[in-house]
Amino acid sequence: LRDPAFAEEMPNAKLAVIGYPIKHSASPQMHQPALDEAGFDLQYIRVEVEPGEVDSCFSEMERIGFIGCNVTVPHKLEAMALCDELTDDAKALGATNTILFKQGKRIGHNSDGPGLARAVLEDFGKSLTELRVLILGAGGGAGRAIATQCAREGAPAIYLSNRTVEKLDPIAKSLTEEHGAKLVYTLSTDEADLATAASRVDLIINSTSLGLKEDDALPLPAACLSAKHMVYDAVYNPPVTPLLAEANKLGSKTSNGLSMLLHQGAISFAFWLGQEPCITTMRRGLGK
Ligand code: ATR
Repeated sequence: LRDPAFAEEMPNAKLAVIGYPIKHSASPQMHQPALDEAGFDLQYIRVEVEPGEVDSCFSEMERIGFIGCNVTVPHKLEAMALCDELTDDAKALGATNTILFKQGKRIGHNSDGPGLARAVLEDFGKSLTELRVLILGAGGGAGRAIATQCAREGAPAIYLSNRTVEKLDPIAKSLTEEHGAKLVYTLSTDEADLATAASRVDLIINSTSLGLKEDDALPLPAACLSAKHMVYDAVYNPPVTPLLAEANKLGSKTSNGLSMLLHQGAISFAFWLGQEPCITTMRRGLGK
């Protein structure tokens, strides 16, 4: 951590989100009001940390007396390797997005997977346990976590799609062998294969980075979507991605990644502080 200035300037800063870049993270705007409302005299800040500097950042935070931090792109794997202990969720998902500093130990947790499960339940009224799922971009970091959570929840069928289809073999193997998934199929982004997979699922999740930019292509052809589908886009900025706009037109139920952000945040809060935050306050902080 090159600039530990926050220690002197903000003596109450005891929680943070670290990433690179980090300017646009919405985490402080949901955590801070929830901390205030619960009566904690603590500040939650953003800290920009370059790759390779996560260890020195953690050491500095421990020195200052931080409670913990959230970890976002691109540090979720680097952070895991620096932990003394991992929770079952972190082990299963193979990455950490939440760290607790406790009695000289770094405890790594992952609230992304459980956050997705809560988000799907809240947004669509269905548990992942009962949904056949198609995950677009399943070979990426976020996609892998989402696929693993679907397997852990016992989703009856999981279709994994990725542009670079070779990335899917080890993921499919891990879903069936380590997480008890029953039916796992892998496919590329071939249009006919996507159409077949889409016709066999209830829930389609986009975890590719397509949708972040206005002129991005759709992650699957619009003709694959129908009113029977639930469509979840892990992207939340813009709130209505081109995929969600098409899905809305066709009458699918839709939701964006803001609910996953919200619920992973609530799970992290409870992990650090031992009490649930007010979810309504967090939601309001996100403008949701
Ligand atoms: P994150 O950790 O946020 O998931 P990532 O690991 O870089 O980010 O993954 C991005 C995902 O979006 C990958 O699945 C990537 O596909 P590849 O594995 O083939 O790279 C997918 N992706 C990115 N740009 C894409 C594009 N133009 N078309 C299809 N998939 C794309």
